[in-house]
Amino acid sequence: MMRKSSKKSSKVPPAQKTKKLPAPASRPDVRLADAEKFLLPTYKRQPVIMTHGRGAYVFDSTGKKYLDFLGGIAVNALGHAHPRIVKVIRREAVRAIHLSNLYHNAFQGPLAHKLVEWSGLDRVFFANSGTEAIDGAMKLGRLYGRTPEEPVGAPAKKHRFLALENSFHGRTRFNDIADLEAKFDDTVCAILLETVQGEGGIYPVSEAFWNRARSLATQHSALLIADEIQCGLGRTGRYFAYQKFSSKPDIALVAKPLAAGLPLGAILTTEGVASRVSPGMHGTTFGGGPLACAAALEFLSIVEEEKLLENTRARGAELCEGLKKLALQFDFIREIRAEGLMIGIELSIEGAPFVAEAMERGLLINCTHDFTLRLLPPFIITRAQVREFIKLFETVLTKTSKQASASASGTSAGPERVAQAVGRG
Ligand SMILES: Cc1ncc(COP(=O)(O)O)c(C=O)c1O
Repeated sequence: MMRKSSKKSSKVPPAQKTKKLPAPASRPDVRLADAEKFLLPTYKRQPVIMTHGRGAYVFDSTGKKYLDFLGGIAVNALGHAHPRIVKVIRREAVRAIHLSNLYHNAFQGPLAHKLVEWSGLDRVFFANSGTEAIDGAMKLGRLYGRTPEEPVGAPAKKHRFLALENSFHGRTRFNDIADLEAKFDDTVCAILLETVQGEGGIYPVSEAFWNRARSLATQHSALLIADEIQCGLGRTGRYFAYQKFSSKPDIALVAKPLAAGLPLGAILTTEGVASRVSPGMHGTTFGGGPLACAAALEFLSIVEEEKLLENTRARGAELCEGLKKLALQFDFIREIRAEGLMIGIELSIEGAPFVAEAMERGLLINCTHDFTLRLLPPFIITRAQVREFIKLFETVLTKTSKQASASASGTSAGPERVAQAVGRG
């Protein structure tokens, strides 16, 4: 569907009326020099300063415009400066940014209620990030695995976690049921899996593997934990990616798009798991603050009211169709894997030069696992923006592959590009 074009939403929010900064010309930008000198070198970043965004576009400090098909690595599901999100943040920022989990705030309860409706689970804990949500879920796994006879502090029989290869961590082979069965026993307290692996290259867990993981977890009184931090909350065209299966996890984890760019994560779980928890067992300083929860509540309402699940499915299908046509033209495209607006384009050659060329041409994408280009566009993209992407991407494929074959045959087509991998996320 097209984004609603009410008068209100076409107005540039005041926060976006930023002055265009002068192009740095030959003068080195002091902000880049500071970053180079004073930041820990954890990322290989592009030498640009992104200053603001509007809808599906981002702008840098020279005024250059980019079509954002990376979405802050799956965070900016509503694009940038969505008027309703801006309005809620402005309203709440002057009331309370942070209170404390020693008290209730006006938004945690209603937000938990909505997440319970979306997920089919029963209770929610708010964290400040995906990692903090995983951390808490592992604590719940250990807690659930401990019998009343096992004193707290002593090693418990059920203490092992199974996690899958290619996820953030893990050794159990992905979608390999025999391997899963061999590793699952009564010492396992939880299995943690991404319903669709993101960083791993957009690989959905198979229905057979999900079903077996579910039945083994139940059989061994272990928890099935679905990491939906990247694939959840609408990205695949469903509220949760696991909703394509007939069974639910015991715990689902969400973060990235939840508060429309403000840091917020959540652990969603069953009454059975929640019944093991009592005050003092777990907590957080920042998780569930009023500003982030108000933005999250608005995010969930927007997804429902603007029918963004439908848009995600429709635009995802159009993107796939366009990409499949390109795959017929470019034989180095090996496979296209897609779930809604979570798309991996696997190449037989390195993906980094394609990312660099795309950026040069005003398109943001990234590359994961060296050979897979990853697209995570916002849920609000329009049909026209899908067409714009396909056109731009075709040029990127043509130019980059020409350069690759020119340098392979020793006739370099201009200065060598900096092969560039965009950071984890
Ligand atoms: C699937 C998945 N799990 C966990 C994380 C960690 O989340 P965060 O970066 O918010 O700590 C990420 C993203 O980085 C992710 O994609």
